[in-house]
Amino acid sequence: MQHEPDPRLLTLLREDLGSAGFTVDGLEEAWGAVAAAALGRDDPVPALAELDRRPVTAARLLGRLFVLGAGIPAASAPVAFARLGLAGAVALGLVEADGDEVRARVDLRPSAIADEHGVASWWIVSDLGELALGGELPAEHVLGAGSASSTLAGITVPSDGGSVLDLGTGSGIQALHAARTASRVVGTDVSARALRFAAVNAALNGVTVDLREGDLYDPVAGERFDRIVSNPPFVITPRGARDVPAYTYRDGGRVGDGLVAAVVRGARDHLTPGGIAQLLGNWEVRDDPAAARDRVLDWVGPLDAWVVERDLLDPAEYAETWVRDGGAQPGSPRWRALVRAWLDDFADRGVTAIGAGYLLLRAPGPGTAPLRRFEHLDTPLGAGLARALAGGLAAHDWQAARSDDALADSRLTVAPDVTEHRHHWPGEADPTVLELRQGSGFARVRRVDTVLAAVVGASDGELTVRELVRAVARILQVDGDATLAAVLPAVRELLVEGFLGPPR
Ligand SMILES: C[S@@+](CC[C@H](N)C(=O)[O-])C[C@H]1O[C@@H](n2cnc3c(N)ncnc32)[C@H](O)[C@@H]1O
Repeated sequence: MQHEPDPRLLTLLREDLGSAGFTVDGLEEAWGAVAAAALGRDDPVPALAELDRRPVTAARLLGRLFVLGAGIPAASAPVAFARLGLAGAVALGLVEADGDEVRARVDLRPSAIADEHGVASWWIVSDLGELALGGELPAEHVLGAGSASSTLAGITVPSDGGSVLDLGTGSGIQALHAARTASRVVGTDVSARALRFAAVNAALNGVTVDLREGDLYDPVAGERFDRIVSNPPFVITPRGARDVPAYTYRDGGRVGDGLVAAVVRGARDHLTPGGIAQLLGNWEVRDDPAAARDRVLDWVGPLDAWVVERDLLDPAEYAETWVRDGGAQPGSPRWRALVRAWLDDFADRGVTAIGAGYLLLRAPGPGTAPLRRFEHLDTPLGAGLARALAGGLAAHDWQAARSDDALADSRLTVAPDVTEHRHHWPGEADPTVLELRQGSGFARVRRVDTVLAAVVGASDGELTVRELVRAVARILQVDGDATLAAVLPAVRELLVEGFLGPPR
């Protein structure tokens, strides 16, 4: 990319992309759903085959060039770049002309998110990926908006007009997302190259981001933010082994999970009271999963923590994932050497598994109650994770501020996405298993007993928990007070998990 892209050319590019319908849906339409699904598996062949069969349009030319990394005839450039022109696209550093063919020098694709703030769509310029390069990525590769980027954007609790720090901004995708609800966004990165892409993407999408270069929190020394988001370079990478590439986009250069530990530890000095940091991370497990949880919670120090472990990989799976991500071919001598380097590194520290997931940290503030939660949740998720996390934090504070008596006197409501499921042995009238299930957010499934199921089911905001428990206890002919005492801790948990809501 140009160092200081000409804003006039970027405006023309924006107009071309807009009028071409270069959107996530527009591209799916351009090559069809089957080809789009194949692309999701990194297979460009069906999309290329469809483009060869279908009429030429601007969206198809742009998709061929920038998403599939294939050339287009120079003669069709005026269709692809109706306003910008081929000369403008070359001047911006987007493409190069090679005889009768035009080839992309960067990856450029739409990225979209749909949440309670509506649908947002951006164009993200980044380095060419493996498909276009046809081989291993260079160490300074700047990543586009990948699946991890979407995951983080999807769980980010909105800042409601506050300030946001995007640490390790890369292409700037989190900063663009944060700017929808923030008054001010700062994006930092150790890579000057990444910051150039972030600047282009901010300008291309008409968003203002304060971009700063430096290691971790160095560029924001002494500053605090209402939100910190980070998809940091969390990949645990062998140090000191020969020929192991050090990718800036995924490897922070620390031993083991030291980079994630540093991002977590640093958050305490950069959050405003009540401020929230959210990041993706990997952490090492050395035999004892409980000790690994304590280690992660220890990084958090005085902050609140809610960690959701989404996966627990064995060292070989982990090594294979990241060796493949770099572009080494399975089974090749290079592949074998790299996997071996990863396994030896894990063995040196006694690592038996690697946890992966989401970390939410919160600085204590007015109305917040201490929170330490680490849960393993590897089941499929629903929509609305950011809302589920924000609701969970609010519900945690609400219930923590209430004594058992006050909670018992509250009129709670069952969440609208909750359903009850009964499982029977064949021929048995009474269920052997009762479950509550969420239809959205973390899509949790909770086993409950008859009393709790009845209390949750009847929680429509009319009767208090105490009244409901007494009524159920009378029917079941059990002691009301003892039943209430047993139910209240579960009610607190169901509130935090979002099955129940505080009074409306
Ligand atoms: C996984 S990429 C995330 C990019 C983008 N935020 C996203 O969500 O797609 C990690 C980013 O962290 C940056 N990075 C690596 N080491 C860093 C460090 N020590 N301090 C700050 N940023 C760093 C990389 O250059 C890269 O842009």
